[in-house]
Amino acid sequence: MNDNLHQLRCFGCGSRISGNEAQPDFRCAQCGDLFEVDYPGWLERKGPDRPNAGALKWLWRERRCSDEALDGSGVWRFRELLPILDSFGNAVTLQEGNTPLYHLPRNAKALGIDQLYAKHQGMNPSGSFKDTGMTSALSVAKERGFKWVACASTGNTSAAMAAYAARAGLNSLVLIPDGKIAWGKLSQAMDYGAVTCQLKTDFDGCVSVLTEIVRQAPIYLLNSVNPYRLEGQKTPALEIAEALDWNVPDHLIVPGGNLANSSALGKGFREMHELGLVGRMPRISVIQAEGANPMVRHLAAGADTPFKPVEAHTRATAIRIGNPASWRKAERVVHDTGGWCLDVTEAEIAIAKAEIGAEGLGCEPASAVTLAGLKKLRAQGVVHGGQTVVLLLTGHTLKDADYTIDFHRGTLLNPEETGGPDSKISAEIAALRRNAVVVDANPKAVLDLIEAKIKGQVG
Ligand code: F0G
Repeated sequence: MNDNLHQLRCFGCGSRISGNEAQPDFRCAQCGDLFEVDYPGWLERKGPDRPNAGALKWLWRERRCSDEALDGSGVWRFRELLPILDSFGNAVTLQEGNTPLYHLPRNAKALGIDQLYAKHQGMNPSGSFKDTGMTSALSVAKERGFKWVACASTGNTSAAMAAYAARAGLNSLVLIPDGKIAWGKLSQAMDYGAVTCQLKTDFDGCVSVLTEIVRQAPIYLLNSVNPYRLEGQKTPALEIAEALDWNVPDHLIVPGGNLANSSALGKGFREMHELGLVGRMPRISVIQAEGANPMVRHLAAGADTPFKPVEAHTRATAIRIGNPASWRKAERVVHDTGGWCLDVTEAEIAIAKAEIGAEGLGCEPASAVTLAGLKKLRAQGVVHGGQTVVLLLTGHTLKDADYTIDFHRGTLLNPEETGGPDSKISAEIAALRRNAVVVDANPKAVLDLIEAKIKGQVG
């Protein structure tokens, strides 16, 4: 079986190469930019070979009832749109994708937006959206005969890579910034058997070291500069459209770190539009943490100015990235879809995270920037109450339990971040905090506590 129909096209200079001609660091030999997977002739195909939108929709839905492992994956279920393998039999899957699209009734009411949803990518096997890109790119590594795979990571990529490598029987190497990733993620890399190195640098420093390593040794790079990652990561766009009966939301809001996910989702919606699967594109907005906002700064300075990396600081460690590799791709997505790019403070992130928690869902801090950003866009009047809005939640709440516990204990934020004890922000936080209470081990003590709570005497 030869399912492979793709080429790599440089995003910068447009030059094309075949998949196995890529450099180990996935940079274009001509101009240094990143590649995109391209399927030449895909749309021009005529007759029975032309992808038929109606038939594809039917086929993809049918596969949800199939017992085949490949069909049970929310990535490979859509394999007609990612023919990147010589044989789909080489796919390494953990039944990723097929994640829920939840309505957010309380936040919808508070914001006056009825149709407010969360696409919860934290409900993937390793607890983050990275699984969808890892199944695609790691399958390519396996098919090409690599014995080692590697990534630099703020935690989730490493957890996903280690899991898929273990499934495929490959060795994995993880480079993470020492002390700057959530324990849950580090524990996953260890549990799944990766060689895990904590480097005394930040994420951007880990990327530099790994780029040198893959140039020197036959190790397959699985950071999101690898264009096959984005092919899997575009499939949540298909799932969102499918869940809305092949309508697109008016607005999709995505957290921005290395800026690959926003790029991938934009590609997914663009390809669906080109194939006639959907009638239009959603606006796609990217939200960054205020202390890790190089894209926001870049767009504010004017797209013609050179991109300036920043030294990144945020407690949302997943997006603590100052030199995002995919900024050009993401810039195109935001520009072409008429979206916005803005940043949110540490307090805004913490409050939004607690509000998503109060919906019974929860997410990790980096995911909560989406709700915090939506609140700003709503306040600016650019998002309207009658619109359909989808927040892309990227990671599971248990990834970073320390953050959540610190928030509810009141030790997360400092007075500069809250504006002091009498500020509006402190009042909002107080209304959301649910600290665990120590009580005597008898029913009366517990019932007294409930009564005090009903009377509003405790938080
Ligand atoms: N949300 C979470 C939970 C993440 O882990 C990341 C990135 C992002 C958002 C940002 O996505 O980089 O595509 O813009 N995590 C990285 C990692 C880079 O190593 O796990 P992006």
